Amino acid sequence: MNILVIGSGGREHALCWKIAQSNLVDKIFCVPGNGGISEIAELVSIKLDDIKGLINFVKENKIDFTIVGPEAPLVIGIVDEFTKLGLKIFGPAKKAVQLEASKVFAKELMKKTGVPTADFEVFDNSQKAIAYLKEKNTFPIVIKADGLCAGKGVIITGSFDDAKVAIKQIMEDRIFGDAGDRIIIEECLLGEEASIIVFSDGETIIPLATSQDHKRIFDNDKGPNTGGMGAYSPTGLITEELEKEIMRKIIIPVIDEMKKEINSYKGVLYAGIMVTEKGPFVLEFNVRFGDPETQAILPRLKSDLVEVLIAGSKGTLDKIKLEWDKGSCVSIVVSSGGYPGTFETGKEITGLEKLKEEKNVAVFHAGTKKQGNKIFTSSGRVLNVTALGDTIQDARKKAYSAIEKIYFEGMYFRRDIGFRELKRRLINV
Ligand code: AMP
Ligand code: GLY
Repeated sequence: MNILVIGSGGREHALCWKIAQSNLVDKIFCVPGNGGISEIAELVSIKLDDIKGLINFVKENKIDFTIVGPEAPLVIGIVDEFTKLGLKIFGPAKKAVQLEASKVFAKELMKKTGVPTADFEVFDNSQKAIAYLKEKNTFPIVIKADGLCAGKGVIITGSFDDAKVAIKQIMEDRIFGDAGDRIIIEECLLGEEASIIVFSDGETIIPLATSQDHKRIFDNDKGPNTGGMGAYSPTGLITEELEKEIMRKIIIPVIDEMKKEINSYKGVLYAGIMVTEKGPFVLEFNVRFGDPETQAILPRLKSDLVEVLIAGSKGTLDKIKLEWDKGSCVSIVVSSGGYPGTFETGKEITGLEKLKEEKNVAVFHAGTKKQGNKIFTSSGRVLNVTALGDTIQDARKKAYSAIEKIYFEGMYFRRDIGFRELKRRLINV
């Protein structure tokens, strides 16, 4: 089979790496890919919003199956367009993408179906939002822009004055563009976060292994939010019992409701969960694989991913049983110095060759470019240094010693990925 993967991050490198292990696959293409992906797939330069261009490419190159990484092509309806033409693709239809693209849609759906999520109000007028805050007078409080903001549309404020500034910035100065047409003001939940990702073919739902992301830039979850600085899988926060509760109270009702509203939910569903004293609450939904969670989950998957995704698109997930490595996987993001603020790119990365033969270590590239035989940085998040071990301590040790072999000017990474899991196991970091 010929497979097309769409996207250019660490998630897509991990997808290509896993797909390359499938006996079903002859050739992988990736649009637009990155320096690391270029070693296992042929890179193709087509804009991600050029659905016609993608369709032509798929037809001309006899692509048998397409896998979409990021939300952007899903939002503009790539799955609907491919499906109309009989082209095989795994992902949700445009209407289902609202679950990620509109926080108001997701919150209202959760309210309607009784899915636990923070109490909230929706506003399309900044003065009304500010008046509500004044009256409510409970802080900290969470303010969310309604549309896609590349993970940046959430502001948690500790005082009325800060909240007022945030509302003005979103709704009047429009720092998140049109996403500031509407905002949600919601209760601030206390607890620990985890990522629950499932495959759905519309009828059968199969959970992937659990994982935990690390969103802040600095150790101990300090500093501004990022796209994610590392992840590990599995997380002991989600016990078997809690996973069942999340499936029963959250995932199944949401997929059932999508079935009622739009006929079916096919694809990946990702729930960002806050585990509170009162149980699991939903923070957000994504309609795609998580990044960097995928980089920590796929190395543990023993089953053939291509077989699973094809079953997802055909509606035969009931025939699939996922097999997982019993150990632990840790994936650490190495970023350009200054990220998530300003940073320089174009720095040569050295030492990657030394890790190629290392057992149970994989370096998934995110923002890299290959020029000749050299690899250069091209974005904020650069590499995902990933290791599999019998335990989280093993996996961390391998991942951190692998990072020591890599160098580029200004490289930065968190030194505490997995710290909550170590604390849970009462191991000192
Ligand atoms: P979201 O994009 O909705 O997942 O929000 C990004 C991050 O903001 C989450 O991963 C949480 O760390 C934080 N967050 C969002 N909503 C809440 C909430 N209601 N209470 C506490 N933290 C939140
Ligand atoms: N890890 C968060 C996300 O993929 O949106």
